[in-house]
Amino acid sequence: MTDTLPDPGVDGEQFRKALAVHASGVVVITAQNEEVPVGLTATSFSSVSLTPPLVSFYVGQASATWPGLRAADHFAVNVLTSEQADLAARFARKGIDRFAEPTRWRPGRFGAPLLQDASMHMICRPHTTIEVGDHVLVVGMVIEVSVYGTGQPLLYHQGRFGRFLPHP
Ligand SMILES: Cc1cc2nc3c(=O)[nH]c(=O)nc-3n(C[C@H](O)[C@H](O)[C@H](O)COP(=O)(O)O)c2cc1C
Repeated sequence: MTDTLPDPGVDGEQFRKALAVHASGVVVITAQNEEVPVGLTATSFSSVSLTPPLVSFYVGQASATWPGLRAADHFAVNVLTSEQADLAARFARKGIDRFAEPTRWRPGRFGAPLLQDASMHMICRPHTTIEVGDHVLVVGMVIEVSVYGTGQPLLYHQGRFGRFLPHP
């Protein structure tokens, strides 16, 4: 698979509409570099490998958060609950201090910020980064996990945040 295959004929809008059909969980990826916390909302989080324990996400190459994230020696994955749609929107907004009030967080082990009331925190060490199209695939080695309660997940679908409704 290369970028030199014939044009597949999918325009940007069609592609975005197709991807919007796919529902995802929502995480905030955080890191601390030279005392400056950075973080962004992401739906591209995924498990990669069980042994060793690896996870991944994709970050846009044009992201203003990426340089700080790339320079950090650890990052955290904060899995959001259905009560945290405002927090997800905040960590996707440009031109604000995402870590200022009302965001509540504390530095975790190795410094990566942990967001209050997330349903899970995972601390990772960068393992592999690969440029893929206009994004960078970041693979992390998981070195610590904390799972809290049974908070309902925050989902993202058709451009909106929502909740999970289990089958009766
Ligand atoms: C629901 C949702 C999911 C997102 N998922 C990703 C993602 O997986 N990767 C990414 O680079 N940006 C993602 N973004 C965009 C970032 O959160 C952020 O808006 C973008 O990186 C611009 O901010 P920055 O320049 O400070 O990084 C997502 C935004 C939203 C609202």
